[in-house]
Amino acid sequence: MALFFWLGAASCSRDTENAGQPLPEAKKAPQAQVQPQKQNQDQKLIYDYFPLPEGVKIDGYTAAETAAKATGGKAVMALSLNEDKTYYYSILVRMPEDKWMKVIVNAADGKIMKKIPSKICSNLEHKIFIDHFADLFRDGQRFPEIVMKSSKFKPGEVVADVGCGSGYFTFPIAREVGPKGRVYGVDIDDDAIQIMKERLAEKSCFGDRYKNVEIVKSQIYDICLPENSIATAFICDCELIHEKTGDGDKCFESIAKALKPGGRLIMLSFIDYQLEVMGFKSEKENREHFEKKLKPLGLELIEAGNPLPNPNNFFYIFKKTVK
Ligand SMILES: C[S@@+](CC[C@H](N)C(=O)[O-])C[C@H]1O[C@@H](n2cnc3c(N)ncnc32)[C@H](O)[C@@H]1O
Repeated sequence: MALFFWLGAASCSRDTENAGQPLPEAKKAPQAQVQPQKQNQDQKLIYDYFPLPEGVKIDGYTAAETAAKATGGKAVMALSLNEDKTYYYSILVRMPEDKWMKVIVNAADGKIMKKIPSKICSNLEHKIFIDHFADLFRDGQRFPEIVMKSSKFKPGEVVADVGCGSGYFTFPIAREVGPKGRVYGVDIDDDAIQIMKERLAEKSCFGDRYKNVEIVKSQIYDICLPENSIATAFICDCELIHEKTGDGDKCFESIAKALKPGGRLIMLSFIDYQLEVMGFKSEKENREHFEKKLKPLGLELIEAGNPLPNPNNFFYIFKKTVK
């Protein structure tokens, strides 16, 4: 069960389930191969892309059936995930009285690892899509491995993923900083926080690799982290970057305060979108906008470019130069 404590500001909260000692990394499974899947009348396999590792003994159908039998319900969706080279099925099972349960089945041996009661609403498919498939699609645009390399996170580092959404970057950052580091997944949105909690619950089935992730429900003007508590703030595709009204300025102030001296603020987003919303004519204008905004907060631009293969990005790193 999630525990919360208040950080001071009325609506800031931290999910402290992972606030304890980080633990060692989970084992890696073999590389993925795409395999065709059986489809059964009793199941509605809404998504049928199943990347399976070599040597996996069960398919999506068997996994769904196992889950359905074991929970006394009917499996209506089966997904397999290939994340961190760890394979499993995330299956939604309809329970009596139209309740739902998410069941995590180990792809290697078909054993149920966890049952997670799910708050299912009308945007169920959308939610599941965000949870899992959005990541697969985004990889072709956002190249998380390149972003991680360019961000130069160090083992043991404490990072805030500001506007973490469903954790697309939170989890890769968690792997970069390792068990001695920490990643705060910070977001203002209740749905994002809920999704983060569910993803964390799923991932906990496969070891303690993500014990270093802590979820923070923040405020629009405040990331709700203590002063001098983080080495890096990472922001990708967040409204904070796109807004031109100045509403986010206070939030940037809270980011600057939370950074330790010498700490970094990393920003990544699409330049064409940015120019459109902000009305700038060039990447240079965009860069200068942030330099002007962040300099009074003690943040100086130390790197600007686009390390990704697709040209439509800007990637800035600022450094906190004041104490
Ligand atoms: C488009 S999503 C991107 C999520 C994630 N960074 C990614 O790249 O997948 C933007 C997220 O930023 C959050 N957000 C917007 N303004 C924020 C603020 N001031 N502080 C924290 N989170 C914010 C939104 O709630 C949303 O979840």
